[in-house]
Amino acid sequence: MTPGSAEALLSLRNLRLDVTGDDGDIRPILRGLDLTVRAGEAVGLVGESGSGKSMTLRCIARLTPPGARVGGDVLVGGRDVNRLRGKDLRRFRQTEVGYVFQDSRSAINPMHTIGDFLLETARDRGQDVDAARASAVDVLTRMGVSDPERRMRQYPFELSGGLLQRVMIASVIMVQPVLLLADEPTTALDVTTQADVLALTDRLRRDLRIAMLFVTHDLDLATAVCDRIAVVYAGLIVEVADAETARRAPVHPYTRGLLSCRPPLATRLDRIPVIAGTPVSATDSGTGCPFAGRCPVRISPCDTTPPPALEHVGGRVHCHRAEEIIAGALDHELPLTGAVTAPTTAPAQGGRDER
Ligand SMILES: Nc1ncnc2c1ncn2[C@@H]1O[C@H](COP(=O)(O)OP(=O)(O)O)[C@@H](O)[C@H]1O
Ligand SMILES: [Mg+2]
Repeated sequence: MTPGSAEALLSLRNLRLDVTGDDGDIRPILRGLDLTVRAGEAVGLVGESGSGKSMTLRCIARLTPPGARVGGDVLVGGRDVNRLRGKDLRRFRQTEVGYVFQDSRSAINPMHTIGDFLLETARDRGQDVDAARASAVDVLTRMGVSDPERRMRQYPFELSGGLLQRVMIASVIMVQPVLLLADEPTTALDVTTQADVLALTDRLRRDLRIAMLFVTHDLDLATAVCDRIAVVYAGLIVEVADAETARRAPVHPYTRGLLSCRPPLATRLDRIPVIAGTPVSATDSGTGCPFAGRCPVRISPCDTTPPPALEHVGGRVHCHRAEEIIAGALDHELPLTGAVTAPTTAPAQGGRDER
């Protein structure tokens, strides 16, 4: 990553988010994220459930929960998103960023046809109706929806989950935002449909030069469609790496754990493997490395001192033992496929979702 690069489309600088709990206590959720996404680039935001991935997207789109306090900078196209007001904020949300959630069925009015939904969305975003109809047909076709004219006359209940998710993605892409925020967009779909929908979305967004921040708990999936990967743990980015490095030689012990959690495709396991130990929340982690309690190569500074950032040829990592890991000196303690145990009780957070 080029730090402070002028060509960055999205820049998160020391992004922090606190929420106020029911008891009135302030809970940190994000604790200083630094990340850039260049125009047209796809970056995966990967981590276990509860690590802060969705909240990061919500900060970018200014959709944080009531009472949340955001600190640091969110810059899109050089503009500070947190300073946008009124008409500018609406325009930003409707035309510059596109947001796709896991569950489209709840986001589409069941009483309206697919065509009404697509055209209304386009009209809200200032597109002319005829142009919108043409672009809806075009984008639906490119998302693999056959007979799009007929589909546009149907109601949401007549479409499968996979088709509806294609429609949702089409509705966002037809407006040609500069940045697609995709929050586990295919997690609810079966594995084959998931791969198809992702591949089509990726081709389309590359053709239109739309950048993407892709949230998933599945590191393998992220490396398949993204140029770079940012790994999130307890409200912090612990590692940023190009996809190749993330897939073959990540540095952070947490990233290595995530990588080795992927069950072999050909095998059906009774239990999905997870990294040993329980994820800590941003609120409960202390001053040192948040992963220290689960880390197989922890040393005493890990408990007390924030790990410094180390830039290397494949990315950036925050780990006290990064240099030793890069040199291969800890391979016997940290094999790429070894830092894993099968859970003895119900699968822990993050291992629950179907892959
Ligand atoms: N609406 C909300 N209000 C307050 N806290 C929330 C809200 N949604 C999520 N959180 C908390 O924020 C943290 C990060 O959540 P989230 O970003 O949804 O995680 P992820 O998407 O990585 O699974 C979690 O500890 C979660 O409990
Ligand atoms: Mg989430």
